[in-house]
Parts: sequence; C-alpha cells; structure tokens
Amino acid sequence: MKVTVVGAGAVGASCAEYIAIKDFASEVVILDIKEGFAEGKAMDLMQTASLNGFDSKIIGTTGDYSKTAGSDVAVITSGIPRKPGMTREELIGINAGIVKTVATSLIEHSPNVIIIVVSNPMDTMTYLAHKATGLPRNQIIGMGGALDSARFKYRLAEALEAPISDVDGMVIGGHSDTGMIPLIRLAVRNSVNVSEFLSEERLEQVAADTKVGGATLTGLLGTSAWYAPGAAVSEMVKAIALDTKKIFPCSTLLEGEYGMSDICIGVPVVLGKNGIEKIISIELNDAEKEKLTESAEGVRKTNGLLG
Ligand code: 2OP
Repeated sequence: MKVTVVGAGAVGASCAEYIAIKDFASEVVILDIKEGFAEGKAMDLMQTASLNGFDSKIIGTTGDYSKTAGSDVAVITSGIPRKPGMTREELIGINAGIVKTVATSLIEHSPNVIIIVVSNPMDTMTYLAHKATGLPRNQIIGMGGALDSARFKYRLAEALEAPISDVDGMVIGGHSDTGMIPLIRLAVRNSVNVSEFLSEERLEQVAADTKVGGATLTGLLGTSAWYAPGAAVSEMVKAIALDTKKIFPCSTLLEGEYGMSDICIGVPVVLGKNGIEKIISIELNDAEKEKLTESAEGVRKTNGLLG
C-alpha cells in the first residue's frame, strides 16, 4: 500500500506519522509546495522508525507529483487552516483553488487512487474533488465524521466519567460548527443507552461541546487542531489498506440516499479496499431528519460559493 499525504503542515505531518506508526503502509509520500519542508518532515519521521518500531518508508518531495505515482490512497490536507474566530466556510476562497489543483495532479499519476479530503470547508472540498476529477463516488471520501465522532466520544466519556473505550457514538451531517449532528439517541456506554446515565440537559451540553470541538481547539492553539484529525485519517486509511469494512461517518456524494442528491455530507459508510464500499442508511427520527436537512442547506450554500 502506497499512501500520499499532500500538505506537510501540522495535520499532514500528524497523519503521516500515525500512518507510519500503525505500520500497514509500505510507502508514505509527503508532498508540499514549500521548498524542503516535506523532505525535512519525512527525514525527521524516518529517524523515529527504529524508536517507534515501524518499517514504512517515508519520503518527502517539493511539488514533484511523479513521486506520488501509483498511490493507492492520497490524503489532501493542503490549504490554509482556521484562525481563532474564523469558520471553516471562510477558507473557501483560497482552499478551493488549491484542492482542485492537487486533486487533478494526483490523478494524473495515480488514476485509480482513493482520495481522502481533509481541507476545509471539507464537505464542499469533497464535492469539488468529485467535480474536478470525475472519479467514481466510492473513491472520494471526506474526513469529518470520524474526527467529530472521536470528539463526541471524548465529551461523552467526560460527562459519564467513563473510560473512552466504554463509549460509542456517531456524528453525522456537515463538518461545521452548526452542521454537525451528534446522534445522542444512539450513543451508548457498553451497550446501555447514555440516556440511562445522563440527563437530557447534560446530553445537550455534550452535543453542543462536540459541535464546537474544532473551534474550541482553534481558540486554545491559535490554529486548527492536528493530532485528532491526523489520527482520524489514519484510521480511515487503515480500514482501506486492511479492507476491514469498518463503519465510519464520512462525507460522501449522495445519489438519493437520505433523500438527497448532488451533495457531499457526512453519513455512515463502510470503508474497505474500494474506498466507500457501502452507504448505510439508518432510520433517523423526525428531529434528526430536520437537522440533516438544515445541515445540508448549509453545505449547499457553501457549495454555491464555488462558482
Ligand atoms: C477540525 O475540526 C481541522 O476541521 C478540522 O479540527
């Protein structure tokens, strides 16, 4: 398995590091436009190989897409990150041009690549990657729900005073402060519904804290987060590499599922060797359906800015 990570910034580097440490990829290529930056990150990471016990070979390149040739999976993290107070949607002007160029350059050298889009506003960038490459929908996957669900589990565990491994939950909808839908109704602690342990108010607070998970970190760090985004991507790449058929909420092009078409938005999917192997249609209640419709309206509004 050859994996390319485009963008050697914090998210790209963290993503490459987790992929290498999990040791399922034979080769990881990091590409950046800043002279020497990806080469430096790759060399630094390779010098952790004997310490962290992995055999993945990591190489860096300054903008040479020929080095990415034959990639099975490519992760697009390039673009500018959020600053405190900014929404993900405000990044569209700069990031759209970057994502389009990156996606088309990738498929010139790896026509069968599976692309994972991380750049924000992520659902719109995933949609743009579809339009720019014309790849089948199973091959373009937006990373948002895997991260948002990890943040949901963190907040649930905190409220429950439980270990995170005891907790399960999923966030669907758009990857935005207002568009995320933490599915409280389905969240469990070791098979027991969380409503058995927590009041409605406390669960509403968990959902609210989850939705601003990225913004909270941007406020603390002065830029957007990287460890959890990198780890979330690495788990998705691992599911593809090992053909695990694990379910992740991911932004995917809908063609009638959930009553929607011509939009990329977060819903549960099965990930395996072909990328998105299946879209899971779960029965939502009326309130959840309404939230998904509102979330989709927000994503469509941002898509409209693509011009
Ligand atoms: C986040 O939520 C980077 O969008 C990403 O942290």
